Amino acid sequence: VLLKSYNTFGIAATARYFATFSSAEELKGFTEEQHNSGLPQMILGGGSNILFTQDFNGWLLKNEIKGITITGEDNDYVYVKAGAGENWHGFVQHCIGLNLAGLENLSLIPGNVGASPMQNIGAYGVEIKDVFHELEALHLKDHSIVTFNNADCHFGYRESVFKKEYRQQFAILSVTYRLRKQPLFNTSYGAINEELQRMNVQELSIQAISQAVINIRSSKLPDPAQIGNAGSFFKNPTIAKVAYESLHAAFPQLVAYPVANEQYKLAAGWLIEQCGWKGYRKGDAGVHAKQALVLVNYGNAKGSDIYNLSQEVMDSVKEKFGVELEREVNIV
Ligand code: FAD
Ligand code: EPU
Repeated sequence: VLLKSYNTFGIAATARYFATFSSAEELKGFTEEQHNSGLPQMILGGGSNILFTQDFNGWLLKNEIKGITITGEDNDYVYVKAGAGENWHGFVQHCIGLNLAGLENLSLIPGNVGASPMQNIGAYGVEIKDVFHELEALHLKDHSIVTFNNADCHFGYRESVFKKEYRQQFAILSVTYRLRKQPLFNTSYGAINEELQRMNVQELSIQAISQAVINIRSSKLPDPAQIGNAGSFFKNPTIAKVAYESLHAAFPQLVAYPVANEQYKLAAGWLIEQCGWKGYRKGDAGVHAKQALVLVNYGNAKGSDIYNLSQEVMDSVKEKFGVELEREVNIV
């Protein structure tokens, strides 16, 4: 099966076998059949955080489990459970429509609910770990259904247990979020305040924050329907305070901010831009002209073209700043 329309990078790789499932039972049926083939299995959501550098010689199983239900409430919170195959932004809009707060800063992130815990998606001052209650996942080999609470997921910056030790072992079936009845607005990310002012918002609301985030994102992130991409290709690197201080002395314009444990997080987009990559293009692989952290496919780039470009970017950042970048996108 040709995967070009199943990944937002628009890479024309193929999968040997491809199937969709819309329930845990259906997935169990598949995995039993496939068990003896000895071929790898991989779950696919919206394909917005994957780079296929080669054809996938296995079973690619697209999660289409749907449904949104309220599972409980207490004084402060409502618990909302969503099927892994629900579109993320559609789910966010649905909750905003119910006046439930907590997801508004995460508006317009591409992909599906089921992948949201994979890398603990985050944007504009919020990560899903801040609103995550629990998830249900099917173990692909022994078929047990396991519930993971927030601590079980070992969420970190663009990390979770599913991206590391449990990589490719579980299919996430549903995720339950704990949303606030009374909003707790998060406008800590400077760009949001600027946009709210520009929008001339008089009274803060989750709707206004969502719209501000949508406006900011639309102005600098490429729309995958126009230009293939998977969002930030690299993580923003964290370095120790001493390293930060000497780097800052050498590069006074360095964009960085302090995080926990005497560490500093650097804006990888700035580092990459300083190396002269912003707007660079070689064949159909390139570095986005408005956001240097985003690598793009102008049409017919191969996954290996994008991957090789990412290596060149990493090498140049290492050479100029002595900083190692780490890829954020899942490489297949
Ligand atoms: P996929 O790409 O389909 O899968 C990603 C990984 O998760 C793969 O390894 C896959 O095997 C695995 N997986 C998917 N679903 C399941 C499941 N149900 N069970 C088990 N494993 C599964 N990310 C952010 O965090 N913040 C952003 O601001 C952001 N902005 C973006 C902007 C753009 C324009 C784009 C294209 C991407 C952006 N991303 C961002 C990345 C992406 O949107 C997220 O990582 C998203 O959660 C991926 O969802 P998906 O369904 O497309 O996952
Ligand atoms: N910058 C530059 N040049 C660039 C890009 C950025 O100098 O080309 C500098 C600017 O100074 C800017 C700063 O970097 O102020 C931060 O840029 P931006 O606000 O665009 O955010 P980011 O650090 O590049 C991160 C996430 C995004 C998320 C935004 C908003 C990572 C790897 N990326 O990007 O997530 O949407 O913050 O919170 O943490 C994704 O994961 O795919 C993603 C898009």
